[in-house]
Order: sequence, then C-alpha cells, then structure tokens
Amino acid sequence: MSERTLVLLKPDAVRRGLIGEILGRYEAKGLAVAAMWFGTIDGDKADAHYAEHVERDFYPPLRAFVTSGPMAALVLEGDSAIEVVRLLNGATNGVVAAPGTIRGDLSLSNRENLVHGSDSAESAAREIALWFPELG
Ligand code: CMP
Repeated sequence: MSERTLVLLKPDAVRRGLIGEILGRYEAKGLAVAAMWFGTIDGDKADAHYAEHVERDFYPPLRAFVTSGPMAALVLEGDSAIEVVRLLNGATNGVVAAPGTIRGDLSLSNRENLVHGSDSAESAAREIALWFPELG
C-alpha cells in the first residue's frame, strides 16, 4: 500500500555533504520525493517534532544538535514507505546499526545519526502535518 513518511536529513548529514548519498538510497529503493524543505529550525519546532522525547535526559543535547544548522525535511512516498525508510535508516545508534543501512554505513553516533524517519502511521501523519501543513 502506498503511504507517506516524514524524513529529516539532520544537520550532521548536511555538514558532512551526505544529502545526495542518503537521498540517493531512498530514491534507488523506489521511494519518491513528494515534498522537500531546507532550513534551520528553532527550539520550539524541535520541541514540537520531538514532543514524545522532551522530558528525556538525552533531549537537551538533541535539541541543541537539531537546531545547530540546516536540515532537509522530506516527505517520501511509496509502498510501505514508513517501514522501508526505517529499514534503510537502521538502528538508532550508528555503532550497532547493521552494515548496509544508512546509519550502519555512515554514522558512529547515537545522537548524530544522520536521519529521522517516522516510526508509525500515526507519527507520519502528525509529523507531515507539522512540517508540511499545506499537504494536509
Ligand atoms: P530519531 O530517529 O530522530 O528519534 C529521536 C532521536 O533522539 C534519535 O533519532 C537520536 O538522534 C536521538 N537519541 C535517541 N536516543 C538517544 C540517546 N540514548 N542518546 C542520544 N541521542 C539519542
């Protein structure tokens, strides 16, 4: 079933010049770019995106990181897009993410892990509405 998911290419991906490498993996898999935004978010936007994490110990440095420079936000579309993106991204921590995944091949960090992908259909709907209200 075709569905949409929200992907962030985080500031480390932009700083390291990996936008093309990462986006190419999603496109090569067969997902289509339905919307794209590039810019730097403020703390309020970070809090809204990561609403379920704002009370966690790891959140303050995560907030500083995701507001530290520009990111690309994408809506990707295709069959089982939510699950496919999560499989391509790999486990949260790049140290243990499987080789062949984006994080497994390109990250050694639990925080600076290059990408975010919606974790469920409910999260995708909420996150797409937050980042791309015009798609609602
Ligand atoms: P993401 O998929 O965007 O979802 C929440 C983010 O929080 C995660 O990727 C990481 O960037 C970060 N994160 C999750 N757990 C930890 C942790 N234990 N330490 C530091 N950062 C974390």
